[in-house]
Amino acid sequence: MVDRYVVIGNPIEHSQSPYIHSEFARLTGQCLTYERLLAPLDGFESTVRAFIALGGCGANVTLPFKLEGYRVATRLTERAQSAGAVNTLQFFDEEIVGDNTDGMGLVTDIERNLGLSLRGRRVLLLGAGGAARGAILPILSVRPAFLFVANRTPERAINLIEHFKPLGESYGVALSGGGWDAVPNGFDFVINATSASLHGEVPLLNEAVFEKSALAYDMMYGSQPTVFMRQLERNGIRVVDGLGMLVEQAAETFAFWRGVRPDTATILAALRIRLSVK
Ligand code: ATR
Repeated sequence: MVDRYVVIGNPIEHSQSPYIHSEFARLTGQCLTYERLLAPLDGFESTVRAFIALGGCGANVTLPFKLEGYRVATRLTERAQSAGAVNTLQFFDEEIVGDNTDGMGLVTDIERNLGLSLRGRRVLLLGAGGAARGAILPILSVRPAFLFVANRTPERAINLIEHFKPLGESYGVALSGGGWDAVPNGFDFVINATSASLHGEVPLLNEAVFEKSALAYDMMYGSQPTVFMRQLERNGIRVVDGLGMLVEQAAETFAFWRGVRPDTATILAALRIRLSVK
């Protein structure tokens, strides 16, 4: 029987994951199928259990089920625990193992694909929801000098910082957080993990927040640059979208499932073309 994988979400038609994982399988010579699986909004767990009963090997979990994915897991990787959410499940014996590869995807895209090192640099993370939280451990693990978490609702950023302070100390990274007006100047990396772009809005940042050579990274992607990217680009700041993060989190998941890390460059390039002709 061929090993079966799915991506579970609602909605799910837009997901690029079947394309990415089928290409990874082809490139690495792995025999598997990967399909979209729509779960009812109140039926995530039953969908997972039905797929396991059919012999499913693993699943990606996407919106709005990443917290439910965390709850359904019987075992969690350190990065899933730290993220408080799961984007990857693996099923074997009686176990459901939950992992989170999103944050690692972000760091790999910046460090490997863009060739920039976060080590010793000043990093500003915008947002304090699930996407921001999932990025914190992977960012700390490459040891920037300073990580500031800024959020529209300052208390959420402050709570996140309180939670991650001991981990920051163990990695030797200074951590701080607050609202937009509390953001200090001079960041090398500014990562947008808010969903503001979905509402056509942009976090309110002062220009001095960006170092001259700063990179602004939006976790969102689409056929057009996001409003965040467009605004910063007008001010001469280098901007990138999250398409590379999407491909790298998929590669990390593929490696978790199959023990083989696929090369991502050709798929990232192909996906960029696919998006642009949509
Ligand atoms: P996700 O899991 O995608 O991170 P979330 O947990 O709902 O989703 O978090 C969304 C994040 O985007 C939050 O940081 C939110 O800020 P608040 O905590 O103040 O709600 C941020 N966000 C959403 N819309 C925004 C907007 N228009 N401007 C700025 N920040 C916004």
